[in-house]
Amino acid sequence: MFTDTHCHILKEYYENIEEIIDRAKKNGIMKMIVNGIDRKSNEEVLELQKKYDCIYAAIGFHPENISDFQENDLQQIENNISSIVAIGEIGLDYHYEPCDKEAQQNLFESQLQLAEKYHKPVIIHSRDATQDTINILKRHPNVKGCLHCFSGSLETAKIYVSMGFKLGFGGVITFKNAKLKEIIKAVPLDTLLLETDSPYLSPEPKRGTKNEPANIRHIANFIADELKLDIRELSEVTEANVKALFDI
Ligand code: NI
Repeated sequence: MFTDTHCHILKEYYENIEEIIDRAKKNGIMKMIVNGIDRKSNEEVLELQKKYDCIYAAIGFHPENISDFQENDLQQIENNISSIVAIGEIGLDYHYEPCDKEAQQNLFESQLQLAEKYHKPVIIHSRDATQDTINILKRHPNVKGCLHCFSGSLETAKIYVSMGFKLGFGGVITFKNAKLKEIIKAVPLDTLLLETDSPYLSPEPKRGTKNEPANIRHIANFIADELKLDIRELSEVTEANVKALFDI
């Protein structure tokens, strides 16, 4: 049994969401944390959560959608705070130039303030923005969370771990990625979370197809092999980590 701690099971990506959920459950993926990225997807995530017991909502405003963001949108998080398991997906993304770093930092900061105020964990996206992400998180030492789709260096992983954050690993680790394999072996087991980031980043042997939560089993098999755990042990470890971070 596993939880997909980060996916985007949304209508724009899947014709038949019911089928995606069924297939996940048949593969032992009994819980899915679906992440919103903007007002519309947040609304959809909240609806999905009402409809399916296995779906848990994370809502937030992603840095890539910053041009559509309006200040009063944050109200959507506060209005739904008691029904969500996390504020996410939020963070910093400096990958595409030009980007308004200051606006992204302000948006990230204001969502961390909500996390602090309401004691909610955060699900963080950080791309090409490691130092600023760390600096901003250090200003909020009470906020817990995870770095979703972690792809930084071992040194960066250790900094996040020392700050109490967990690290999400998904399909990328199966792409003969020596660096990530080294990291999962070096960080404490109680920091590991599994995720697909569906519909993106399908793991081997499904690489190139649309990703879905059922594919957690490929990621889990791969990581269990690397860590020399059996799949049951990995499930126990990662499910305990899910429970430690999220109220689900
Ligand atoms: Ni995502």
